[in-house]
Amino acid sequence: MSANKVIHIGVFGCRRGKTYVKVLKTGKFKGARITALCDMNESRMDACEEFCGHGRLAPKRFTDPEEFFNSGLFEAVILCNYFSEHAKYAAMALARGIHVFSETMAAHTLSDCAMLVEAAEKSKAIYMMAENYPFTKANFEIKKQYEAGRLGKVLFAEGEYIHNMSPDENKDISIPNEKGEYHWRKYLPCTYYSSHALCPLLFMTGEKPVKVVAMSAKDDPEREKEYGRLCPDVVGVMLVYTANGAVFRVNGSSYMGIRGNWYRLGCVNGGIETVRGKEESVRIGFNKWLLEEGEESPRIYEPDWESDGEFASQCSHRGGDYWVMKYFLGAVRGERKPFPDVYTATLMSEVAIYGWRSIQNGSIPYDIPDLHDPKVREELLKDTYSPFPPFNN
Ligand SMILES: NC(=O)c1ccc[n+]([C@@H]2O[C@H](COP(=O)([O-])OP(=O)(O)OC[C@H]3O[C@@H](n4cnc5c(N)ncnc54)[C@H](O)[C@@H]3O)[C@@H](O)[C@H]2O)c1
Repeated sequence: MSANKVIHIGVFGCRRGKTYVKVLKTGKFKGARITALCDMNESRMDACEEFCGHGRLAPKRFTDPEEFFNSGLFEAVILCNYFSEHAKYAAMALARGIHVFSETMAAHTLSDCAMLVEAAEKSKAIYMMAENYPFTKANFEIKKQYEAGRLGKVLFAEGEYIHNMSPDENKDISIPNEKGEYHWRKYLPCTYYSSHALCPLLFMTGEKPVKVVAMSAKDDPEREKEYGRLCPDVVGVMLVYTANGAVFRVNGSSYMGIRGNWYRLGCVNGGIETVRGKEESVRIGFNKWLLEEGEESPRIYEPDWESDGEFASQCSHRGGDYWVMKYFLGAVRGERKPFPDVYTATLMSEVAIYGWRSIQNGSIPYDIPDLHDPKVREELLKDTYSPFPPFNN
């Protein structure tokens, strides 16, 4: 696609989708335009329209996904629909040659992981997961420092995304829709919302998970009723072994205090981490015997954006929502590779799914099959277990 061609974009799911509609409004994305919106909830589309074009540039509205995907109105789609239904609609888009930018998680079953990889391999369009947490100022800096080499090989890493929600924030999840179904958050297993914790570590180090073992902490069932959740395991911790022999501790979206994000790399020559409570800053240090004369270690500083700071700082998730969109549009134009691509995205889904199986089976470890291999995919296509209704019937 030429650098000057305007990319037409459809947004499916206008709650989270509204954030990306606003991001696309920042001055930097003049080469992209929202041409279609889809949500069964009309008021969510109303809320998006304010940030879209008007008159002949106004997006067309749909409530039916099939009509939306068949409209021919867009070359790229932003999938912000339900957590457990991304793979199905990503495959629908890829089959029509539509580029996909999909929210987390990429796929909620092993079968969908395999199906999604096959759909992406067959398509001329690109797939990128809309995983925004790698793209904060501090996480870019950790990646830069790790790649500079002085820290040495990573041995241990930690990623935490702690996002507890109040009973009030959770009240909608206990109201069934017209089909009698509850919201996905009601059933969400504690390892499933883990890409915000894991993905930055993969981005920084280029490591690949090959094995997972997990444990959970349970809340009091009575208190859980107050929060409307059906899953008593509220804190899920996974130990992920990587192809190069490192161990990552990943804690995704646990219901505990204190809310926030934290990332750390422990390497042979030193370490680097974000600063708790000061998430735009990093702390870096090297082993004492490796320091230059007079060198301060450890040292805390707030890095600068490499570029685009004036736009990124206007956008949510500490600028991550700006940069992840920039990566996606760059990938659509063929200027850079998507990250996370379909293999990394489904690998993170596998970690989450096998992590949950580990918890349910006495914390036994699971090897993570490599979805590059068609024979592995053939086997996994048969594994349709899901914790989310209606799939778990
Ligand atoms: N990356 C982030 O920082 C971040 C932040 C918030 C949410 N998310 C992700 O975004 C996704 C959406 O979450 P949310 O918080 O917006 O809540 P949500 O899942 O309740 O919203 C989904 C929206 O899609 C619409 N929708 C779903 N299926 C539809 C269908 N078949 N036809 C028409 N409309 C349909 C719903 O009406 C709703 O407005 C989730 O996957 C969530 O994990 C990511």
